Amino acid sequence: MSELSVKHLLGIKYLTEADIQLIFDTATQFKEVINRPIKKVPSLRDITIANLFFENSTRTKLSFELAQKRLSADVINFASSVSSLKKGETLIDTVNNILSMKVDMVVMRHSSPGAASFLAKHVDATIINAGDGAHEHPTQALLDTFSINERLGDVAGKKVVIIGDILHSRVALSNIFALQKLGAEVCVCGPKTLIPKHITSLGVKVETDVNKALKWCDVANVLRVQFERMSASYFPSNREYAAFYGITKPMLDALDKEIIIMHPGPINRGVELSSAVVDSNQAIILDQVENGVAIRMAVLYLLAEKINHAN
Ligand code: NCD
Repeated sequence: MSELSVKHLLGIKYLTEADIQLIFDTATQFKEVINRPIKKVPSLRDITIANLFFENSTRTKLSFELAQKRLSADVINFASSVSSLKKGETLIDTVNNILSMKVDMVVMRHSSPGAASFLAKHVDATIINAGDGAHEHPTQALLDTFSINERLGDVAGKKVVIIGDILHSRVALSNIFALQKLGAEVCVCGPKTLIPKHITSLGVKVETDVNKALKWCDVANVLRVQFERMSASYFPSNREYAAFYGITKPMLDALDKEIIIMHPGPINRGVELSSAVVDSNQAIILDQVENGVAIRMAVLYLLAEKINHAN
C-alpha cells in the first residue's frame, strides 16, 4: 500500500493497521533525512499549512512546525490568545478567513472534543488533529507506538500499561486505539477517580495497584495529571498522588526485567516520575520527541499526496 485510506488525520480510530504501517515506513525514511547534515527536502514546496493552536502547546507545536519546515512547506502560525476569537469571531469564520489566504492544510489543537472533525466537515482543507480536548491526539500515539517499535522491534504481543490521569487524557485514548490496532495488550492504571467507568468496553485491563501494573508490563507510558481539565478534586494532594502512583527508581529496580518508561511531556518531575527515572536509560522520553518530528513529516507528506491526487 502506498496511500493512506483517509484524507484527514482526525483520530487513530479512523486509521487502518496498514495506514499506521505506511506512516511508520515513511517516518523511518524521514528520520534518516533529519539526521543528515542537510535536513531539508523539497517535498511540500507548493503546500501552505496553517497551525491553529487554540490551547497551549510547546512540544507538539514546535514539532509540527519543524516537520513542515524540513519538508519546505510555507507555514503560518496562529495562537488563540492573540487572535480575533477574543473579539467574538466563530471558529469556522476564523478558519475560513485563514483559508482565503490559500491554505492547503490546517493543523489544529482545540479544547473541544470533536473540533477537528467539525472543521473537516465544514471547511475545504486537509485537517490534522493536534489534540481535541480529552478526545484524541493521533500524532502523539503514532510517535509513541513508533518509539516502542524502534526499541522492542515490534508492538504486537507487547504489554503496555498507561499510567495516570486516563479520564482527562487524549493521549490515553489515541494510544489505546493505536496499540490495539498493532496487536499489543493494553492496561490502564491510576486512581479509580481518574479511570473512566466504561473503559473496559474498549477491551483494556484496569489495575489500580501501580506495582502490579509495572510487574505485568513491558512498557509503561506515564501521563501527566491534567489539572487544567479538572473541575473537582480527584485526589487529596500532589504528594499523595506521588506516594501512590509516582514511579521511582527503586520500584523499577525491584522488577525482574527492565521495562521501558515513556512520557508524552510535559513532565511534573517528582509527581508522576521521579527525576532519577526521567534521567535513566530506561526512559525513552527524548527519543519520543525526536521521533515526533519524523512521524509528523510522514503524516504531512502522505496527506499532501492525497491533495495532489484529488486535483
Ligand atoms: C500532551 C497533550 O497536550 O495532550 N502533551 C503533548 O502533546 N506532548 C499531554 C499533556 O499535556 O500532559
